[in-house]
Amino acid sequence: MASSSSSSSSSLHFLIFFFLAFASAVFLSESNQPLFKPDNLLLPARKDGATNLHMASIRKRNPQTLLQFLIDLNGRFLWVNCDQNYVSSTYHGPSCYSAQCSRANSDQHCYTCSFKVRPGCHNSTCALMSVNPVSHQSAMGELAQDVLSIQSIRDESNPGPIVTVPHFLFVCAPSRLLQIGLPEYVQGVAGLGHISIALPTQLASHFGFKPKFALCFTSSFKHPGFIFFGDAPSYMFPGIDVSRQMRYTPLMISRLGEYYIDVRSMRINQKTVPLTTTPYTVLERSIYQSFTQFFTDQLSHISQIPPVAPFSVCYDSRKFPNTIAGPGVPKIDDLVLGDQSVVWTIFGANSMVQAQPGVLCLGFLDGGLHTRDSIVIGAYQLEDNLVDFDLYDSRLGFSSSLLFQRTSCANFNSKPTP
Ligand SMILES: *[C@@H]1O[C@H](CO)[C@@H](O)[C@H](O)[C@H]1NC(C)=O
Repeated sequence: MASSSSSSSSSLHFLIFFFLAFASAVFLSESNQPLFKPDNLLLPARKDGATNLHMASIRKRNPQTLLQFLIDLNGRFLWVNCDQNYVSSTYHGPSCYSAQCSRANSDQHCYTCSFKVRPGCHNSTCALMSVNPVSHQSAMGELAQDVLSIQSIRDESNPGPIVTVPHFLFVCAPSRLLQIGLPEYVQGVAGLGHISIALPTQLASHFGFKPKFALCFTSSFKHPGFIFFGDAPSYMFPGIDVSRQMRYTPLMISRLGEYYIDVRSMRINQKTVPLTTTPYTVLERSIYQSFTQFFTDQLSHISQIPPVAPFSVCYDSRKFPNTIAGPGVPKIDDLVLGDQSVVWTIFGANSMVQAQPGVLCLGFLDGGLHTRDSIVIGAYQLEDNLVDFDLYDSRLGFSSSLLFQRTSCANFNSKPTP
């Protein structure tokens, strides 16, 4: 963050350099570990059976506690319930107008709390608004710092040591914010949006790697997928080179740090489209209607059966052959991206949802008439795709279905230590 300055301050620079060198020497002798600077970090990401949302397991606090967080691709930071059972010797609430509050963009508001002092309840800390992306409820909370620990990866695929960010910034939100739309075991929301205190930004700046992360959402309820921080993995188990499959399109960031890609095609007609972690892709009504019309026309020889909510186009699953990439239904080439030569093809595994045993439904939802965005790409359509958010070069990479490569998001090469 140091700004450029004239040569007269070179001695000051030297002092700062000296202090940093000294501080890291102390750190080394205290931790008694050889210096290890990871280029990649890994978080396991599980799919929740009840909600079809994807959850990350994150180690926080001192002593280390493993907590479950909803992954919110466009979330602005990590927030957690501190009302109950927050035990940690390293919790700190920076005071308002501090550098941390300014970094978190909350320098205008000082937090007050009328209850007993505890993590999440102090006067004159700084306040930030947390949002539950499922229920859209929001609440004020206290900006806080505590230890975050995470699995590092060596040489792209072998697990390295667990590394820590000692002063990771997050928000303590009231527990009522978790009560609607989230499974009971979830303790908070991990925001992956593009702002200074979001999880990917803090990890990249702390460890000094490029601001990049890759998502690989699993379709399995048994085997986790992953979020990979740093350069996207080139290989997936068993030694499959996925880097050759990656196609890239420009990635755009909204004022609020949300991710958008440009979709052009005859039916969708040049719209910027956000990627989200809502369970299914949501289409504005007119797009939904022409999209489902086009899809059902191609399947006109197969009769539809009564739909299972929230879907409206469903078939008897016995009518479709099984293929390597899910039910053999017409593939969807609708997502023509960027310069028109980049097509994200959606196959049966990402278009058809088993809504009940024996019932397959088209996994896209009608968003109604007045949607903020005409298309919102949901997590189901991203499953078993490696999706690379390259914020260094402002581009989004996607592999299309890994199932065709005979691998999946549950097949990351590395076996994280339990
Ligand atoms: C914050 O200040 C108010 C008013 O002085 C006081 O009643 C309250 O107990 C304080 N809260 C904490 C957490 O110290």
